[in-house]
Amino acid sequence: MALQSTPFRWGALARLLHWAMALGLGYAVGLGLWMTDLPVGIQKIKTYALHKSVGITLLGIAVIRLLWRLLDDRPLPPPGTPRWQHRAAGLTHVLLYGLMLLLPLSGWLYNSAAGFPLRWFKLWNLPRLAEPDPALKALAHDLHVYAAWTLVALVVLHAAAALEHHVVDRDDTLNAMLGRQPPVRRKDPPP
Ligand code: HEM
Ligand code: HEM
Repeated sequence: MALQSTPFRWGALARLLHWAMALGLGYAVGLGLWMTDLPVGIQKIKTYALHKSVGITLLGIAVIRLLWRLLDDRPLPPPGTPRWQHRAAGLTHVLLYGLMLLLPLSGWLYNSAAGFPLRWFKLWNLPRLAEPDPALKALAHDLHVYAAWTLVALVVLHAAAALEHHVVDRDDTLNAMLGRQPPVRRKDPPP
């Protein structure tokens, strides 16, 4: 199992980071939406703490992922991919990376400006990003919520594009991210 990516397939580390991030973000969004509607009580406090710890963990994974992306190779687009599609995918990926950082950082900023402490899984206290400030608190809250919905919309688009490649174009884009041996299918028939 190759750790590094090749021109045909994502490596084991890139795939692990991609799918761990997908699961983690789904969990964090689910917790975020659920916890805000809970009645005030011990379960609400525990769920908020869990949401924040999971979010901080995802921030760490996002940083590792970006560093690995700088060192790693990446698969080539399938033969015959139109230029606009390649550019649209590249732009979506840049936005997704940006949101992977913006979401936890805006949550952390909101928590700091609200004057709440931040403890990662009852193990470490994390520093404040800002002093308590009601105006900053409101701004960071809005940023966090809008960033979350933008992320959800982009991921739906991104997953739909991956399925379109697999089912309609019948190329190897999704197979390469699932770690299947290429070439499973080719877009162009062999000469
Ligand atoms: C069911 C959900 C998902 C599917 C089916 C999926 C599928 C894929 C596939 C096939 C690729 C490779 C694209 C290529 O080679 O051009 C990819 C790349 C990527 N995915 Fe996903 N993905 C999903 C969820 C997510 C989530 C939740 C995120 C993060 C917010 C994400 C972020 C990315 C990024 C940033 C890349 C580009 C990787 C790079 O160039 O370094 N994906 N995804
Ligand atoms: C990638 C990680 C994260 C994701 C995907 C995420 C997502 C969400 C979502 C979907 C909500 C509900 C928004 C709504 O009310 O409509 C939420 C709320 C919240 N998040 Fe996050 N979050 C993340 C990280 C963090 C972090 C790291 C912190 C703090 C350190 C944090 C603190 C909060 C707080 C305090 C709320 C409640 C806001 C309120 O009571 O209205 N989040 N988050």
